[in-house]
Amino acid sequence: MIKLDYSHVDLKENIFDYQEKVNQLHQSIVDKTCKGNDYLGWYDWPVNYDKEELDRIVEVAKEIRENADVLLVCGIGGSYLGARSAIEMLKGLYPDDSLEIIYTGNTVSSSHLYQTLKHIEGKSVYLNVISKSGTTTETAIAFRLFKNYLEDTYGKQECKKRIIATTDKSRGTLKQLATENGYRCFVIPDDIGGRFSVFTAVGLLPIAASGLDVKAVLKGCQKAKEDLSNPDLNSNISYQYAVIRHILQKQGKDVEFLITYEPYMTMVGEWWKQLFGESEGKDGKGILPASATFTTDLHSMGQFIQEGTKCFFETVLVVDKPKYDLVFPNDSLNQDNMNYLAGKSIDWVNKMAFEGTLTAHYQVGGNPNIVLHLDQVDEENYGYMIYFFFVSCAMSVLLLDSNPFNQPGVEVYKKNMFKLLGKI
Ligand code: PA5
Repeated sequence: MIKLDYSHVDLKENIFDYQEKVNQLHQSIVDKTCKGNDYLGWYDWPVNYDKEELDRIVEVAKEIRENADVLLVCGIGGSYLGARSAIEMLKGLYPDDSLEIIYTGNTVSSSHLYQTLKHIEGKSVYLNVISKSGTTTETAIAFRLFKNYLEDTYGKQECKKRIIATTDKSRGTLKQLATENGYRCFVIPDDIGGRFSVFTAVGLLPIAASGLDVKAVLKGCQKAKEDLSNPDLNSNISYQYAVIRHILQKQGKDVEFLITYEPYMTMVGEWWKQLFGESEGKDGKGILPASATFTTDLHSMGQFIQEGTKCFFETVLVVDKPKYDLVFPNDSLNQDNMNYLAGKSIDWVNKMAFEGTLTAHYQVGGNPNIVLHLDQVDEENYGYMIYFFFVSCAMSVLLLDSNPFNQPGVEVYKKNMFKLLGKI
């Protein structure tokens, strides 16, 4: 489902020199002895997931689709990026659907919250509040505002149906609040961190509510798990990718751009940045993850990427078979001089842009380009892709001898903000 091509990367080391190190680190993931081993639940999740909960997710999602005009997904970071990346990638930016999904709880912008409240007026609204800790400020602020709105609109009794909490199974403020108010709950497993949680209820409930097949997402994850269970660098493309990144950073490439050619995958870039940024950026180490959507950003970032500081490499995520295609029409007047493309598919034009850019950036610009080919855009491929990145990310961070699964640095801004807000 994913093919990795590193023929546009010049490595000063042989990736196979890392085989022994990779074997050891792989074993430490499998044995659960690596750094951060309390948070390895994601590794076996494609086979160990709670089947009963999945059935409940599908059932509640069906109810949401039958009754709601709007689903508010209230969460931040790992508690929303995965779902949004999946829904936008798989349904597109203008889905033909009667259910609108709105993401909130990821900002304290008063204007954004005000406009969201105005936007949902008069619509039938369900709310899925998602927070592992249950205390995240952005999410808690939005949740109180929307909970008040829903209670005022429908009454407390009806809110037992309309508000659904995804949180810790037994602890935390949100869990307690949900229990006291009689909300239905889904569980974020103890041993799975936010940025590794898209294939748990965190992501699966909104994804299912959007009408997508969550069982197929898990099937893709299972397939990836099978394919990536052998650490052999000849076949394990996740570990190949991790080792190539590692060598490239040793060659002075401190920034990685994840590039897609599909606007509906921009959020995949946002999800990927959180995954790698929070996992790797610590102990004064790590590659800075950046993202761009081509060809759009070739008209903004293209100049820098072609001729600017050579501090980065590109990882291009190409969709081989697009979900939809169009044929460029002939025009007898040809006033725009575009007839040279008449009869060609638009996706073919996009692919030519990719190939032309690859040559420009690698051969002319000297930027290493890793190319990841994704078969097509569907649930199984999405599942395969996220699991591929999870495994690559864990290996990348372990190669740096850091803990992939904590994020101590995120607390610093919170402490300062709480002081200023007068939180006791
Ligand atoms: O990956 C992470 O752990 C974080 O990005 C969290 O997902 C994010 O901070 C939200 O936390 P919570 O789910 O506790 O509200």
